Amino acid sequence: MKILDAIESRRAKRMLSDKKIEETALKRVMQAAHLAPSCFNNQPWRFMLASEGESLEVLRSALTKGNIWALTAPTLIAVGTRYEEDCQLPEQRDYALFDTGLAVGNLLTQATAEGLIAHPMAGFDPKKVKEAFHLDDDFVLITVIALAYPGEASELNEAQKKLEHGERVRVELESVVSFNGSPKVFAKKENS
Ligand SMILES: Cc1cc2nc3c(=O)[nH]c(=O)nc-3n(C[C@H](O)[C@H](O)[C@H](O)COP(=O)(O)O)c2cc1C
Repeated sequence: MKILDAIESRRAKRMLSDKKIEETALKRVMQAAHLAPSCFNNQPWRFMLASEGESLEVLRSALTKGNIWALTAPTLIAVGTRYEEDCQLPEQRDYALFDTGLAVGNLLTQATAEGLIAHPMAGFDPKKVKEAFHLDDDFVLITVIALAYPGEASELNEAQKKLEHGERVRVELESVVSFNGSPKVFAKKENS
């Protein structure tokens, strides 16, 4: 699969299969994440994969109500970092979240190329997970990713059912990308 094909066909789907994910595919997905670039090659990302046992139970129990569809996923991946693990430069340029996001981007693309759904979630209780995983206050638990083959098994509400087959929604490219535009293109708008 060409990279743009994988990027274009990746969607945050919720209809999942509970089929176990092939070990070799899982390794490639995580290797893709780990090959991401990072400031000073600091590699600040930490991935806690759970396909069985207490870790999986904890992650499942931490999901918010709106994310119960993710209980079907055979693998959940908690992703986090610490600011001190990466460059911290003036003007709020803390790179740990950014670089971890780059790694997650690779993960999502490779998962799509493997025929998997990889759906990142912010809807979970970070305190619960951090306590159970013995993570300190400085650890930022950014997302839990549901990883699964596509399927039929998840519980979806009406809004989620609609989204499942809905159009991809994005603002116009020109509203977020300036192609040789004025330097003021993204200046804060004054209240007039
Ligand atoms: C950081 C992050 C948090 C998200 N949290 C949730 C979530 O808790 N539950 C959910 O169903 N989808 C969640 N999503 C999925 C987004 O809603 C989805 O990516 C977005 O609507 C765009 O759709 P697409 O990924 O299919 O292009 C999250 C995505 C990201 C990147």
